[in-house]
Amino acid sequence: MRILSGIQSSGKQHIGNYYGALRQFVDLQNRGEALYFIANLHALTTVRDPAQASALTRETAIAFLALGLDPRKAILFRQSDIPEVTELYWILGTVVPLSNLDRAHSYKDKLARGIPADFGLFAYPVLMAADILVYGSDLVPVGRDQVQHLEFARDWATKFNVTYVPGYEPADPTGSKGGAPGILKLPEALVQESTAVVPGTDGQKMSKSYNNTIDLFADDAEVRRRIMGIKTDSTPVEAPKPVDTPLHQLLKVMLPQSEFAAVDRTWREGGKGYGEFKKILLAAFHATFDEARARHQALQADPGAVDSILRAGAERARALAAPVIDRVRAAVGIER
Ligand code: TRP
Repeated sequence: MRILSGIQSSGKQHIGNYYGALRQFVDLQNRGEALYFIANLHALTTVRDPAQASALTRETAIAFLALGLDPRKAILFRQSDIPEVTELYWILGTVVPLSNLDRAHSYKDKLARGIPADFGLFAYPVLMAADILVYGSDLVPVGRDQVQHLEFARDWATKFNVTYVPGYEPADPTGSKGGAPGILKLPEALVQESTAVVPGTDGQKMSKSYNNTIDLFADDAEVRRRIMGIKTDSTPVEAPKPVDTPLHQLLKVMLPQSEFAAVDRTWREGGKGYGEFKKILLAAFHATFDEARARHQALQADPGAVDSILRAGAERARALAAPVIDRVRAAVGIER
């Protein structure tokens, strides 16, 4: 089974990224042939400062590695190192109905947040589909907000196969019932429902665009400042606290289940102030991430090691993309 996912290098990684995506990626490296990439081409839709684009690409790679991605198990690479992706992106784009892109949620959300409409933003799902299809991926772990993009990838793979593979039957995509197998394989989304949304310090979804994140690799003082700054109300110390508020939800996400049960009881009974609960959260943060934080520091001090991991990863990823792009080229009539 080939597992693939990407993460945009458009900001520093925070606990929302970890519980929503990265943790699952790291676990999955033991369940199949995993490919993970830094979507630095997608990031160009929002990051327009070259020094920052390059620094964030590296930072995202370091974060992956620090959190436990093992380059002997999973293939880690930069999207921009795989020319086969941008080639498939164009070819695939020729069969993409404009009406699909018009109704893309993420595109509409970005415009609603005031990001100017440009071609990159509009074409974003096509590049993402190419990312997935070029390696013949079976399983794509993603956040809930990306499910529509996965449906697009499946629809466009089908459209490509119908257009270019004689004898292809959409009802028999692998050809197991006697038809012709598709050139582009249909991927499945894997959505981690329970922790897909982590609240930010203000109660909205945790996101760098809301400036409400708790960054995984910020220095100790900044982590403390963020956690102590989580928005709470004026419920007195002795009173029961309202549940499903940001601090309560963050405790639930971060504490081991057994510990959370006890904390939750006190929360509902009263007798402990918000400051105490914040200290519990801070301790849980350090208990969970200090090892990764130490690895992060070590990797930052060793750029050569990170470079060679990324170079080796790109080579392996290109080798997997090559047979797919060769068949695509032949199918559409582009000679080498
Ligand atoms: N759009 C994804 C996100 O913002 C990142 C991404 C780009 C991706 N290409 C991908 C995820 C391919 C999975 C597969 O989270």
